[in-house]
Amino acid sequence: MRTKLVVGNWKMHGSRPANAELLAGVLAARPYTTDVAVCVPYVYLTETAATLAGSDIRWGAQDVSSHAQGAYTGEVSAAMLAEFGCRYAIVGHSERRAYHAESDQLVAEKAQAALAKGVTPIVCVGETLAQRDAGETEAVVKRQLSAVIHLLAHCASEIVVAYEPVWAIGTGRTASPEQAQAVHAVLRAQLQAATGHGAAMRILYGGSVKADNAAALFSQPDIDGGLIGGASLKAADFVAICRA
Ligand code: 13P
Repeated sequence: MRTKLVVGNWKMHGSRPANAELLAGVLAARPYTTDVAVCVPYVYLTETAATLAGSDIRWGAQDVSSHAQGAYTGEVSAAMLAEFGCRYAIVGHSERRAYHAESDQLVAEKAQAALAKGVTPIVCVGETLAQRDAGETEAVVKRQLSAVIHLLAHCASEIVVAYEPVWAIGTGRTASPEQAQAVHAVLRAQLQAATGHGAAMRILYGGSVKADNAAALFSQPDIDGGLIGGASLKAADFVAICRA
């Protein structure tokens, strides 16, 4: 049985006072029946870790370097994330693929770097609207995931996958539960074929998840929770999604 997981991706939002209020609200609403985590900007990891320490709420980063260490100005290594108790690191978010030209291969290397230090990568895959309209959804997400599977080999069973259709991110236009489920089933079959553990792996949905659509999405057989952007910034909204 897969325990559902709801992860807040704060993206480049927050401030020290706003974070404190948000985390206090998320802590106050415990207990949850799902696993809950927040992926915060690097600079807030220390305070986030201190605030959440001792609770069952996990924290993580939104990216990680593919390199272990060295002259890589501005990069943050998986070992550093591990030092701050990060459980997760998002890799391959479509915003990084689009604005930072991250390739499938680089995303796979980031996933490998995270796993090597005991940080679970949340590997994001998803098609653009043009790709969906061209009937390429399945091919695109399978290609993105196969780069990770190829590099990680048997360790691929340790990742979390997030299906985030690019056209649904921040647009208010969510994939229908049936559309999302169809892609999740494809991804699970791919994971099962590659690792033999697909049935035990978590595949999250992300893209305009809100309190009022979360339950319908999360009740699909292959949707194991969500990666939440905008709605993770207000405690009441995020808590409602964690309870959905
Ligand atoms: P929104 O929930 O704001 O659409 O963002 C989704 C996302 O990109 C999470 O990683």
